[in-house]
Order: sequence, then C-alpha cells, then structure tokens
Amino acid sequence: MAAEMFRAVPCFSCSLLFLLVLFASLIVQHCSGGDTISWSQSLNGNQTIVSKEGHFELGFFSPGNSKNFYIGIWYKKVSPQTVIWVANREVPISNAASSELKITENGNLALLDHKKAIAWSSKSVLHQANSTEAVILDTGNLILRDSLNSSSIIWQSFDHPTDTWVPGGWLGMNKITGEYQSLTPWKNSEDPAPGPFIDTIDPSGLNQFLLMWNGTEVYWRSGVWNGYSFSETPGMNRDPDYITNFTDDHEKRVITQATSFKDVYIRNMMDTSGQNKQWLWTIETQAWMVVWSQPAACDVYSVCGAFGICDLNSKTLCSCPLGFKPVSAREWDLNDWNSGCTRKTNLPCSNDNSTVAETEGFLEMYITRLPPGSQPLTGLTAEECKQACLKSCYCTALLLWQRMLNMECGSPKH
Ligand SMILES: *[C@@H]1O[C@H](CO)[C@@H](O)[C@H](O)[C@H]1NC(C)=O
Ligand SMILES: *[C@@H]1O[C@H](CO)[C@@H](O)[C@H](O)[C@H]1NC(C)=O
Ligand SMILES: *[C@@H]1O[C@H](CO)[C@@H](O)[C@H](O)[C@H]1NC(C)=O
Ligand SMILES: *[C@@H]1O[C@H](CO)[C@@H](O)[C@H](O)[C@H]1NC(C)=O
Ligand SMILES: *[C@@H]1O[C@H](CO)[C@@H](O)[C@H](O)[C@H]1NC(C)=O
Ligand SMILES: *[C@@H]1O[C@H](CO)[C@@H](O)[C@H](O)[C@H]1NC(C)=O
Repeated sequence: MAAEMFRAVPCFSCSLLFLLVLFASLIVQHCSGGDTISWSQSLNGNQTIVSKEGHFELGFFSPGNSKNFYIGIWYKKVSPQTVIWVANREVPISNAASSELKITENGNLALLDHKKAIAWSSKSVLHQANSTEAVILDTGNLILRDSLNSSSIIWQSFDHPTDTWVPGGWLGMNKITGEYQSLTPWKNSEDPAPGPFIDTIDPSGLNQFLLMWNGTEVYWRSGVWNGYSFSETPGMNRDPDYITNFTDDHEKRVITQATSFKDVYIRNMMDTSGQNKQWLWTIETQAWMVVWSQPAACDVYSVCGAFGICDLNSKTLCSCPLGFKPVSAREWDLNDWNSGCTRKTNLPCSNDNSTVAETEGFLEMYITRLPPGSQPLTGLTAEECKQACLKSCYCTALLLWQRMLNMECGSPKH
C-alpha cells in the first residue's frame, strides 16, 4: 500500500512539473544561439547571440580583471576577445546572471540590472514591441528592426560607435539630424567609459577627420579628402582590397570602408593612448597587426597628462619628473596616463603671494609644451623669469623659449 502511494506521487508531480516547465518556457524564452533577440526573449548571464555566418557575437563580457559586466559585440573567431562595441559604457552592471537584455514594452532594446532598473537603452523611436527584434549582423552591426518588415531599421549600433569602426560602418555627420558619429577611446583596458580623446569629422566643414583632446584641442588632422585618400594619412588606402571612401551629399558627410575579404578582419580604433590605429587580423596569423597608426605616440595632446614626460624610447612611454609621482598609480599601471603627475610634496607656501622656500629649484627640461590658458610674460631675462616664478605660488612650472632672440617667459595658470 505504502509502496504503491510512493510510486503514484512522483508520477503525478512529474506531469505537473512538465506542464510548469512548458508554461514557463512559453512566457520567458531565454535565447542562446541564433542571431536574434525577439520580443519575449532575453539574454542574460553567459548567453549570447551570434551572427549568421559566425563572425560576430553579442553578450555580456567583463574586460580584463574588472568585476563589472557590459553588453558588447566581439569577433566570434578571434582570441583573445576583441570588443568592437559596448552598450553600457558608463553604466557597468555587477551581476550578469540577474540582469537581462530585452525588448521593452515601447519597442526599445534595453539592459535591465538586477533591480530591473534600466542601465542602458537604445532610446529609439517607439515601436510596437511584439513586432520588434534585435539582430546581430555579420558586419558587426546590431540592428533593431520590424520583425514583419526586415528592411525597416529602427536603430543600429553603427550609428552609435564606441571606440571602433569596422568595414560596413561609417563615421561622420548626419546632416538631417546634425548628429555626429565619432570614436572615443576606452578610459583604459578595463574601463570602456570614454577617455579624453575624440576622433570625428571636422565640424568646420572640411572633409577631413580630426583628433581632439577634451573636445577642444585639435592635435591631429587626417588632411582633406582628395577623392582617393586623406592627404596626411599615408598608407590608409594602400591596399585596394580595403576601400576607404568619403561621401558628402545632402544627407550626410561620412567616411566609409568596405572590404571584399571574409577571412580577414580590419578595424579602425581610437586607442586609449589617443592614437588612431588600423588593425588587421588574418586566419593564417590568428593575430592582430597594426597597419597604420597616427599620430606618433608623443604627439597626442596631453597623453602623459600635466607634468608627465613622454618618451618613445621608454618602456612605459610616460614617466614623471624628479620630485613628482603619478596622480593615480592604478591608472598608470593600466597605461592610462592622462591624469598626469603631481608633486610628491606640496609647494611650501603660506599663501599665494609668499616667496617659495629656498629648498625649491628648477629642473631643466626640453621640448615641453604649456597647457592652454598659460600666461606669457614678455621682456624678461631667464633669471628674471625664474625670480618671477619663485615669487608666486601660482607658478608651478615655467618655460623659456626663444623666438627671434626675444626671450619669453610663461607659467601655467592654476
Ligand atoms: C554558463 O554559466 C553557467 C553557470 O555559471 C555554467 O555552468 C556554464 O558552464 C556556462 N556555459 C558556458 C557555455 O560557458
Ligand atoms: C501585437 O500586439 C498588438 C496589440 O497588443 C496585437 O493587436 C497584435 O495582434 C500583436 N501582434 C502579434 C504578431 O502578436
Ligand atoms: C518596409 O520598410 C521599408 C523601409 O522603412 C519601407 O520603405 C517599405 O515600404 C516597408 N514595406 C512594407 C510592406 O511596409
Ligand atoms: C575640458 O573641457 C571642459 C569643458 O569644455 C573645461 O571646463 C575643462 O577645464 C577642460 N579641462 C582641461 C584640463 O582643460
Ligand atoms: C565613393 O563614394 C562616391 C560618392 O558616394 C561614389 O560615387 C563612389 O562610387 C564611391 N567609390 C567607391 C570606390 O566606393
Ligand atoms: C596677492 O597679491 C595681489 C596683488 O599684489 C593681491 O591682490 C592679493 O590680495 C594678494 N593675495 C594674498 C592671498 O595675499
């Protein structure tokens, strides 16, 4: 009797369990595999979607030793993982398993954190949610489209590049909306938040692209498009298999790139060092190789930050002068030097007008640049310039330079 009951119970719960599982899978279909996230599906944890021919993959990733998670797109066949796009650059999430990427009620693609708060959203036009789907394409473009009309694209990641631009994508200006597509580097190899550099089409209207620091200081120009290449960018169109093109019409002013190869990947990226680099990967080498890189490392504006010394022959590129140390040792370890150097001890001044103590002196440096906003003092001899600097605690450094025999003297403004 007892034995019979024992047998009957599991049988009953078995069919109940089966129904429950079936029901649950009707409500929430998690997707893993396939290239699409449809309405009612979501992506979480280590689930990914992969483009049709297996070139690109989208899912959660954690850069380097970081404990943070981001939604990104990377090359499926390339190791180590090479990310070309990040959704939630500035809003990392702490737990991928309890977060989800899904189509929301208003037809946007959104990343919800473990508290169901929106960490990132496509911010696209409202669209009927049950006919919206997100698809990762073999170009590396993530598109949001109408599932009933696949040529109706609502939003695409190529319109919102992060630090990388790949063939099929574009960089430039949408003349109708006034929007710019530009590249900003990751802050460092573990933090995809935007660093201080930007790569964009010249806002003044010239058909060239510019690299700028802090949105203002232009430190490199590609040279104007001559119908075939950019005049100051030797090597860019050297290979006829990768066509770079510039289009300036009533809708847009953009540079595009196309390639006919399938087993070769090419990507243009804004490096954390502030350099624009083109990389090539082939199936034979299984490794990334720099095709061209501009400008030279030490020509990047403020690459080593305030008081930093840039030296191409040094193992670490940037270093601090005698008596100075990195503002952030952690950032310097990750080759993110932009916060610069600071004095190891404060200038011993009681107030801003007091004379600097005699323990302080000057260190001679060559090929230096003053930051913007520096105050030039003219008509002083080298000695007078030194004395003027010693008399003011506002003066943290001074620069002497000769222009046609006239000595000038300047000091960075505080
Ligand atoms: C995904 O994560 C789960 C849980 O952490 C793990 O058991 C599983 O092996 C992972 N799958 C893959 C394909 O990495
Ligand atoms: C989508 O939702 C609308 C309104 O809720 C409904 O009328 C329509 O039938 C749904 N379409 C599909 C394909 O489920
Ligand atoms: C599909 O979308 C495209 C682009 O928005 C549009 O031109 C076309 O008319 C649509 N087709 C149908 C059948 O609605
Ligand atoms: C960067 O730009 C912002 C706004 O344009 C400005 O307030 C800030 O002082 C600049 N930073 C430096 C270090 O020049
Ligand atoms: C470059 O773009 C122009 C203007 O859009 C177009 O006419 C031309 O065919 C393109 N050239 C190549 C090689 O793609
Ligand atoms: C420093 O000197 C200037 C002009 O000589 C004066 O206006 C200012 O109040 C002084 N500041 C202090 C902190 O004494």
